[in-house]
Amino acid sequence: VTISKGNHRHFMLKEIYEQPIVVAQTLRAYVRGFEGQVSLPTEDFDLSSVRRVTIVACGTSFYAGMVAKYWFEQFARVPVDIDVASEFRYREPVMEEGGLALFISQSGETADTLAALRHARANGQKIAVVVNVPTSTMAREADLLLATHAGPEIGVASTKAFTCQLAVLATFAANLARAKGRLSADEERNIVRHLSEAPAALNGALAYDEAIEAMAPMIAKARDVLYLGRGPDYPLALEGALKLKEISYIHAEGYAAGEMKHGPIALIDENVPVIVLAPSGPLFEKTVSNMQEVQARGGQVVLISDYDGVEQAGEGCIATITMPKVHPLIAPLVYAIPVQLLAYHVAVAKGTDVDQPRNLAKSVTVE
Ligand code: G6P
Repeated sequence: VTISKGNHRHFMLKEIYEQPIVVAQTLRAYVRGFEGQVSLPTEDFDLSSVRRVTIVACGTSFYAGMVAKYWFEQFARVPVDIDVASEFRYREPVMEEGGLALFISQSGETADTLAALRHARANGQKIAVVVNVPTSTMAREADLLLATHAGPEIGVASTKAFTCQLAVLATFAANLARAKGRLSADEERNIVRHLSEAPAALNGALAYDEAIEAMAPMIAKARDVLYLGRGPDYPLALEGALKLKEISYIHAEGYAAGEMKHGPIALIDENVPVIVLAPSGPLFEKTVSNMQEVQARGGQVVLISDYDGVEQAGEGCIATITMPKVHPLIAPLVYAIPVQLLAYHVAVAKGTDVDQPRNLAKSVTVE
């Protein structure tokens, strides 16, 4: 099968735009909307006995796993360990009975992740995988296969696979919570309702494409860019920085907003754009106060938020991007769009090879 870019200039942009549809497609596979329940193929799998979850992945898939850690712990109250695959095997992780090892991979072939999977199996862990290629090695070796339905992803920098991974992981967290008796029917219905709002919210976020494009030439001039977020949106800051590095070759760092004062604040001057991801919710005020610490040192802030009166909160910022109002649960999906679009437009402004960035491969089959 040949896959075409359609009207889009690059596969990456096409794949960014596909997200409302593929996330909806993925959610349809894992929720019974009518009953307001998650519905995963976990019948043969006793989730109630899971005592610990170990998440292992690489790259963008690892950041999806970092978001999932918040959800598993918050909903199911199960402790979660997370590692990049290349570190996991070599630190002699403790793998006890009742351990579920969860591997996340777009390709299902990443060598480090696959080796970690086999290591976990050899140590008696149950194996769940979230993969986008259903015929992949990881899919075949799993006890529990949770497929993302993103369709083929061609751009080397992952986009739609990431938001689909988040969609699956959120339903899996709810499923685990239910199995552990931690989730009432009402709470489950609410989770399903918030998730079902994601596709429209992703569409809403895409409407800011032009505003983000307009900002790109300014970011393209920077040597370093900092991304800040808190809670489940901290991994989005890491993902934003990764996307920018991968395709525009600008040095970028993602940081937990509250940790900035322990180091990166020393970098701040008027030449360093700082992208602040601040969805409304319990952590909003704290993130804004970190943002003000950046501004007080001359940092050039771009504030991305759905807060009512974001313009006011963003006084003194070089730009504000108003996101659709969403429940904090789905913010990590929705805020993926502006960070992907920003990296994309900056790369286009710099004239790099967006779909085939130098030195990177779509699927890394060497350790
Ligand atoms: C490569 C790709 C990344 C991807 C990572 C993990 O580095 O360039 O986009 O996130 O591998 O790949 P996986 O297929 O395991 O998700």
